[in-house]
Amino acid sequence: MQHDGGGRVGFAVLRKVQVVSVTGVEHLLVEGVRWHALFYRVGDKMVRFGAQRQTAGVCIKIGENAAAARENSSFAWRTSKIDYAPVTVLIRASAVLIHRERRHSHVSGQPNYAARPRRTNENDILKIMKILVLGSAAGGGFPQWNCNCPNCAGLRKGSINAKPRTQSSIAVSSNGTDWVLINASPDILQQIRSNPALQPARVIRDSGIAAVMVMDAQIDHITGLLMLREGRKKMNLYCTESVWDDLNHGLPLAKVLSHYCGVERHAIEGLSADETHFAPIEVPGIEGIRFHPMPLKSKAPPYSPHRNNPGPGDNNGLMIESIATGKKVFYAPGLGEIEPHVLRAMQQADCVLVDGTVWTGDEMITLGLTQKTAADMGHLQVSGPGGMIEVLDGIGARRKVLIHINNTNPILDEDSAERATLAQHGIEVAFDGMEIEL
Ligand code: MLT
Ligand code: MN
Ligand code: ZN
Repeated sequence: MQHDGGGRVGFAVLRKVQVVSVTGVEHLLVEGVRWHALFYRVGDKMVRFGAQRQTAGVCIKIGENAAAARENSSFAWRTSKIDYAPVTVLIRASAVLIHRERRHSHVSGQPNYAARPRRTNENDILKIMKILVLGSAAGGGFPQWNCNCPNCAGLRKGSINAKPRTQSSIAVSSNGTDWVLINASPDILQQIRSNPALQPARVIRDSGIAAVMVMDAQIDHITGLLMLREGRKKMNLYCTESVWDDLNHGLPLAKVLSHYCGVERHAIEGLSADETHFAPIEVPGIEGIRFHPMPLKSKAPPYSPHRNNPGPGDNNGLMIESIATGKKVFYAPGLGEIEPHVLRAMQQADCVLVDGTVWTGDEMITLGLTQKTAADMGHLQVSGPGGMIEVLDGIGARRKVLIHINNTNPILDEDSAERATLAQHGIEVAFDGMEIEL
């Protein structure tokens, strides 16, 4: 198969996406600098009709039945998720497809693992930074296994308009193949299954997760580390000294993992004198992205010796920056107080993904679920004076997204008044599978 002989295929080179109608069937035309592809979908069939140099005419039919083709086609399982609405999904799928086909032997048609994919033109591809929301819920997920609050019960019964959500994690990539996992959720295995982009299948045991960075040592952010123990290389783990301490003493997952894949710990360090940021980090293999961790006020986990003895590094936020474009995403799933440096970071970001755990500080108490307020747990409430809506109203980010949503939060019901309020303020609610490209 021949596509683009020059090897310049990437997300950013795609120029045109349009829906065209040919003989009554909707087609989607994805055009790049030197190639274009045409897709169409009829019922559960997803077919790539043409993929060709713009000058040459090659017509390739890839997969007819998405479910069947998923078995043996690296393409179909990506396309099976595709609908016309999120056009970006399709763009990504097509770019990945081209990468993959290059790695198949032209002679046998069998995968050729030895053939490394051609390096994509950095100027093109590294301009786009992708954030994938793997888990948008707070600890416990939604619905929570033992919870019968109105949301959890309503979701089970189907009486509310809401989506299930797994526990807190995102992934970041510049090429759609190599990812930094930010927080390792207890639901990581399910999240990987639901997001095939995390399994690039380059060798017999493989993962797209090049490194893991954790923002704190909360159970919902670290227990997934154990699920990654089968890794063939030492796990690249980025964390602060305080989190590392918890992972070696409070809940010694790092020690446990030394008997499996082992951990190559990379320090989040270099705290500035004013304690507002750590040294920036570039993760090998994740080109074009710079990570700027910063300490912030939330709570160390209940098991941690730091719980009542807080210090910088227990809880952190992360500015994720695309080096080429300077575009920035600020991520803080646990945020108990808006300190000046946090507000500054939020103001500088093009997109914020911030703590949306609870609507009111006492909502879990009112429901009879706990004695703790949100503040006791290190979370700012969304509504009311000093709440996250008020904070977000004061910043200019293009996208304002709440993440780490507790199952009690009424915003999970898409028909709720609270959700409508968010919409009025231009605030989105993260969901599992949400993709943000900047
Ligand atoms: C939190 O965000 O407060 C914690 O993750 C709660 C928990 O342990 O589930
Ligand atoms: Mn949490
Ligand atoms: Zn619940």
